[in-house]
Amino acid sequence: MPASVILGAQWGDEGKGKITDLLSERADVVVRYQGGNNAGHTIVTEDQKFALSLIPSGVLYPTVTPVIGNGVVVDPKWLFEEMETLREKGIDPSRVKISNNAHLIMPYHRKLDAVIERYLGNSMIGTTKRGIGPAYTDKFSRSGIRIQDLFDEKIFLEKLTVALKNKNKQLVKIYNQLPLDFDAIADEYLGYADRLAPYVTDTSLLVWEALKEGKMVLFEGGQGTLLDIDHGTYPFVTSSNPTAGGAPVGIGIGPTMIDDVIGVAKAYISRVGTGPFPTEQINEIGDRLIEIGGEYGVVTGRRRRCGWLDMVALRYAARVNGLTEIALTKLDVLSHFDTIKIATAYEADGATFSEMPLQQRVLHECTPLYEEHEGWNEDITAVEHYEDLPELARRYVERIEELVDVPIKTVSVGPGRKATLTKS
Ligand code: GDP
Ligand code: IMO
Ligand code: MG
Repeated sequence: MPASVILGAQWGDEGKGKITDLLSERADVVVRYQGGNNAGHTIVTEDQKFALSLIPSGVLYPTVTPVIGNGVVVDPKWLFEEMETLREKGIDPSRVKISNNAHLIMPYHRKLDAVIERYLGNSMIGTTKRGIGPAYTDKFSRSGIRIQDLFDEKIFLEKLTVALKNKNKQLVKIYNQLPLDFDAIADEYLGYADRLAPYVTDTSLLVWEALKEGKMVLFEGGQGTLLDIDHGTYPFVTSSNPTAGGAPVGIGIGPTMIDDVIGVAKAYISRVGTGPFPTEQINEIGDRLIEIGGEYGVVTGRRRRCGWLDMVALRYAARVNGLTEIALTKLDVLSHFDTIKIATAYEADGATFSEMPLQQRVLHECTPLYEEHEGWNEDITAVEHYEDLPELARRYVERIEELVDVPIKTVSVGPGRKATLTKS
């Protein structure tokens, strides 16, 4: 698998960090292609726990070149803080490469993210308030500032002048905030130029050359399919394309260079923030999934909403991403349930939906149709081979495989590297 995309097949937090880390052992380059420090990817090694946000999970291996592609939005303050945290843990982040075309998250993006959410009141999205949406808004309205602009003071100051004039008007006149100070932002960001310089390169070329040399490249998605700006539960989504199509665009290679697309899915499902969630369990089952699964956000610490596995959503993810395989995570969390449910379709207005409905309203109002599975009620965290899982656990995995019609090749039974089973 020279070029593989690893992405979330649900609403994020599926365990992409863990799966990317495992595959990184054999990889040469690991690329983030979208999102920014709204992601929170956990990796548990033999002796440490890492929570990566902006830097690709491959950074833990000295043999890997971690790459931040043009599709990512970069908050330089955060980048250097994350690098420092890694250094304190004995990891050298100096191999990180960053695209000259990646857009910058500016202080006004963070500020706007927070005040827009407040302004939305009950309609809020529940963003991570990291400035992601406002940064992508500027990118697409062609008023964003790119990493390369930092290296030309005149251009940077010109762009900042135009942008800040506009943003301060918004902040003051619409959102009743104090304006941000031009000199403070200019000094801070121009100060990043020298510090960023060693990392900045043509990452499209770097990845293309790596692929031409037959090296192994992983593309690590942030967020998940249902948070995709085009294919997710809009507007309760993030502002980028975590789906597989985002990978070639977000690094600058052709789609023909991608060989595999690995969808990471939990054995149940969770989401953070607001928006429709047909299989959500706002009851004791949901509470137990949250507590047993440790379902608290890496980035914001928020309690995640949890529910039963949704096959309408997983089949959809298989389709829109062209998944070639699935890594099923957190199977161990279900060891504590007598009955486990899988939603196979939705029912609303007397109709049955086995595909995503045309009207998103249905997702808010539908009743999921469930099939029930007997739980295995047995600790599986120490199991080393797929064949040694309890039969009921294997039946559960194989039923999912049958329903989604994509091979499940990896089953994760704990957060650590060793708690991973390969299924043939
Ligand atoms: P990501 O954003 O997709 O990388 O996922 P997160 O790191 O936000 O959330 C996944 C959480 O589940 C992390 O705390 C992981 O350490 C943990 N995790 C991953 N795989 C497993 C697993 O198979 N079992 C259990 N119990 N925890 C897991
Ligand atoms: P990883 O990579 C889960 C959610 C936020 C909010 C919506 C928009 O760890 O899976 P944003 O700040 O992106 O504008 O927020 O998207 N969200 C995530 N949920 N995991 C993530 O990343 C997320 N990144 C953003 O909670 O609902
Ligand atoms: Mg996460």
